[in-house]
Amino acid sequence: TALPAGHPLRSEGVAQSPLVRTLRGLPAAHTPVWFMRQAGRSMPEYRAAREGTGMLEACLTPELAAEITLQPVRRHGVDAAIFFSDIVVPMKLSGVGVDIVAGRGPVLEHPVRTAADVAALPELADADLDPIREAVARTVAELGDTPLIGFAGAPFTIAAYAVEGGPSRDHLRPRTMMHADPQSWEALAQWAARTSGAFLRAQVEAGASAVQLFDSWAGSLSLGDYEAHVQRHSADALAAVAELGVPRIHFGTGTGELLAAMRDAGADAVGVDYRIPLDEASRRLGGRTVVQGNIDPALLPAPREVLHEHTRDVLRRGRSAPGHVVNLGHGVPPETDPDVLSELVTFIHKETR
Ligand code: CP3
Repeated sequence: TALPAGHPLRSEGVAQSPLVRTLRGLPAAHTPVWFMRQAGRSMPEYRAAREGTGMLEACLTPELAAEITLQPVRRHGVDAAIFFSDIVVPMKLSGVGVDIVAGRGPVLEHPVRTAADVAALPELADADLDPIREAVARTVAELGDTPLIGFAGAPFTIAAYAVEGGPSRDHLRPRTMMHADPQSWEALAQWAARTSGAFLRAQVEAGASAVQLFDSWAGSLSLGDYEAHVQRHSADALAAVAELGVPRIHFGTGTGELLAAMRDAGADAVGVDYRIPLDEASRRLGGRTVVQGNIDPALLPAPREVLHEHTRDVLRRGRSAPGHVVNLGHGVPPETDPDVLSELVTFIHKETR
């Protein structure tokens, strides 16, 4: 491995952690669990820490980003921290005019729609990533044996925000661009892959022991379009950390038809949303790939016995894969009672020890 000396993954505690062992297909002391958006509005200490600070400003203040990353580990005892940042942070650091609007999501000053718009995209410089390296270093200094997961947005999801200029439902504009102006699409996707790849690499070099590539909106693509216009760019982003030897997770929503193609982009584990059961996902992956998921976030407020029965079913189906990391099918809803998440972590650890 080309990991720097002193990297957490070189320590016994992190290398033997349930998360890292499971992602490597090895047996673990219990089934690991973490939650997408575990650091967020569901927690009072998060709301207090964020008071008066914009989302991107919080992400770019290393001390605050590290503190927020640690909060759900302290409160819930999850098996991993995920770095508190956002998929548009590297875009922002490169100089693109983008902000995150509360209740809406990322919004660009100038949507990227023409060949000239793509050519004008600024390049991310290595030094731009210094606040990320500092936040990661501060985080892992406090984490002990709990691994930190680094992440980035996949090129399609990043490009979808860039072309639409903000959140959208069907992602029509980027899907049109692939066919109507394939050269511009190619240049935009390559830019996004470089930017996300550099963001991943900076987090791993500074101390992250696994990564997750979020292609949250890939589910709006046909398998044909995914293979022809997207997969190689996601492969490029994942390849940016290949030689470092950290496990790589690839996640999207509504991606039941794309699971094997997402694995083949270079992932050790595939994240599954709540729409298909894990045994079916594992079957589609040929039974040889670690899966992550897929408790339905809609069941978090349900009566405890209902949530427990659903969780037992998820655990049972997850056993058909060579490894299972428990997560939700998508992010923690902001209105979630944080005690439900803490109790769920305890329940999963007890059921699988
Ligand atoms: O805990 C974690 O998962 C780590 C932190 C994280 C955030 N965003 C923090 C965040 C991660 C991994 C992301 C990734 C992200 N950001 C994705 C991919 C994952 C997914 O959810 O599908 C996407 C699509 C985005 C873009 C984005 N950023 C959206 C759609 C929003 C929601 C806007 C809103 O207010 O509802 C954000 C903002 C954001 N990113 C918040 C957090 C905690 C909420 C900001 C706040 O607390 O005000």
